[in-house]
Amino acid sequence: MKTVFINCSPKKRFSASAYFLGLQRLFVKGRKVTERLRNKSDHKRILDELSDADTVVFCLPLYVDSVPSHVLSFLKEMEGFCNENDVRLNLYSISNNGFIEGNQSEPLLQVFQNFCSRSHLKWCGGIGIGGGVMLNVTRILFVVQIGLLFLNMLLSGVQSGNFFPIDAFENFVVQALILLFLNSGVLFYTLRMGCAINRGNFYGKRYTRILIPSFVFIIFADVFFVIISIFEGGIFKGWLAKK
Ligand SMILES: Cc1cc2nc3c(=O)[nH]c(=O)nc-3n(C[C@H](O)[C@H](O)[C@H](O)COP(=O)(O)O)c2cc1C
Repeated sequence: MKTVFINCSPKKRFSASAYFLGLQRLFVKGRKVTERLRNKSDHKRILDELSDADTVVFCLPLYVDSVPSHVLSFLKEMEGFCNENDVRLNLYSISNNGFIEGNQSEPLLQVFQNFCSRSHLKWCGGIGIGGGVMLNVTRILFVVQIGLLFLNMLLSGVQSGNFFPIDAFENFVVQALILLFLNSGVLFYTLRMGCAINRGNFYGKRYTRILIPSFVFIIFADVFFVIISIFEGGIFKGWLAKK
């Protein structure tokens, strides 16, 4: 069984879609091919991969409550390709969005369902994930935690000769469990959808999010975006710019 995973985020690096697609990939058996869809030059390569595949998994960000435009133009071409070449695939999709509720991706999943009926593909369902940006940050934090653990081990070893400080390990385990908990909804649904993909079964639409209360999310998101806008936009940049 061949499964093609398509990361549809236009970002070059550190996209949330790459993270969720990587998780989904872990739970799927058989031959796996991962593709990136960022612009028109990717279309032919991906369509070639799809021609002998059994399953395709799209993973994409939600843009303005729907499908990003570069994905729409690919779907248009794929519809013609599948109908002309009699390509029959099982299709699953994973959508992630910046706001906290995963069910904001409902219209996007509906677009894929409609696309399947136009292209004579088997719509098998998908997952809508809320708080995608924050979940993506948790994987970066996990790597930082590992780095800090090694730094602690090194410093403790140099200072006292003990390269395995127990409190540093305890601290790491607690932090890792917190990050695991925040991601547990995503892990649960990607695991279950992986089982459905392996069996070629219908999965339906499922929605999850980062597992924190909404009021905590709002505070963190506000702080995060203030910092990002200062670094990326500048405070006064553009105020007196020419049109
Ligand atoms: C142009 C644009 C439109 C967006 N529209 C929405 C939206 O309607 N709802 C939402 O919750 N997030 C929206 N977002 C946020 C993205 O869905 C979110 O950042 C996502 O995690 C990006 O995924 P990626 O890292 O895989 O590209 C938008 C982002 C951009 C750049």
